[in-house]
Amino acid sequence: ILNVFDGFVDLSEIKNIATENGDSSEIAVAKLIKELLSPIIELPIIKSSSLRPHTIHLTIDEDYPIPIEGYYLSSKGNLVIEIRATSYKGLFYGYQSLRQLCGASLESKLKPKNTFIPKVEIEDKPVFAYRGMHLDVSRHFFDVQFIKTYIDMIALHKMNVFHWHLTDDNGWRIEIDKYPKLTEIGAWRTEKNGKKYGGFYTKKDIKEILAYAKKRHITVVPEIEFPGHSVAAIASYPHLSCTGDSINVGTEWGVYKDIYCAGNDTVFTFMEDILTEIMTLFPSKYIHIGGDEVPKYRWKNCNKCQKRILSEGLHNEHELQSYFITRIEKFLNKNGRKLIGWDEILEGGLAPSATVQSWRGEEGGIIAAKSGHDAIMSPTSHCYFDYDLDATDLKEVYHYEPIPAELTEEESKHILGGECNMWTERAPQELVDSKVFPRILAM
Ligand code: ACM
Ligand code: ZN
Repeated sequence: ILNVFDGFVDLSEIKNIATENGDSSEIAVAKLIKELLSPIIELPIIKSSSLRPHTIHLTIDEDYPIPIEGYYLSSKGNLVIEIRATSYKGLFYGYQSLRQLCGASLESKLKPKNTFIPKVEIEDKPVFAYRGMHLDVSRHFFDVQFIKTYIDMIALHKMNVFHWHLTDDNGWRIEIDKYPKLTEIGAWRTEKNGKKYGGFYTKKDIKEILAYAKKRHITVVPEIEFPGHSVAAIASYPHLSCTGDSINVGTEWGVYKDIYCAGNDTVFTFMEDILTEIMTLFPSKYIHIGGDEVPKYRWKNCNKCQKRILSEGLHNEHELQSYFITRIEKFLNKNGRKLIGWDEILEGGLAPSATVQSWRGEEGGIIAAKSGHDAIMSPTSHCYFDYDLDATDLKEVYHYEPIPAELTEEESKHILGGECNMWTERAPQELVDSKVFPRILAM
């Protein structure tokens, strides 16, 4: 519901931020609003059970009839701004709407020329539970401050998932205690011009970013790519591949034929060790294991992989891929987590409780939903913000409908939501904003 009334509220005439119950969630949001408005006015945080003039009034009311991420925001009263929700999450999104109503210069901590916001009444709730934004930090590396700002912008648009693509052919970007070469070797590549390029996040960086994201109601879903897009890991530990040959961290964009060997149990030990450290750091229920673009050339020509196909009674390399993913899924499930993979994980048979991220069109999501699996929609046609505006313009993104038309109402329940992807082969840090904005707004 959106009602717009005549007139404005002048933020410079607000005198207090009031919390109805003085509970910790109300106070946390009050502090965020205090900080947002500090270039205009210094506001004390008080407790008040009644609405007072010149006040921004925050209420968590568990009996208010709105879902957990929903909120009510009103600026229609006489110098009263009211935000009401049943939880921190809802109250936080009410604050994001207030933030959107304010002058943009507040985002740079500068006093806007115009301190007025319109008189409105909004009742709002999300349609989808999973609202994701992705970033590939392998092809290019992004500093901690950039990641925090990115997360803050995701929150401003009321998305609730940051999908952090941490490993790929061109760089391994997360410190792993048990395998230090992943960042000693795998985080660095020698470009064709001879320059060294790279970087990685320490565990301390990751914890700092996770704490920042949590305050903004963002779940960080880490992605560790298996069994393809793994050249940086193989460059660090060559015994993980079918050939065992030494290779360099990738400097080309695309798909490499060297992948993890599916016939070598050391590979599975490695994966379980990595995922154990990942699960210790990341509280997310979902762990993304990649699974996209896995050429079968090495597996076809590897004795160990062929032996695995025979011993497991598999028919081909697609089923070997399914064996691989299912084995990781069992490990994640045993640890109380759920697996997400790109839609190639459908090939050779889907792991029993996997969630599919549909990127090569909608088909992956449709097949997943029809077979009772959850899906996240990210078709290249609408959700790839690394593509030029010529390929995917604002209007197209705006009109995207995440639920495929051919699904029944029952099947549609498996579409958890959508996600926008930001691959960075052609987007170093200074170009990412120009690609993400304004399409993220349209989504
Ligand atoms: C992908 O774009 N390779 C998932
Ligand atoms: Zn092999």
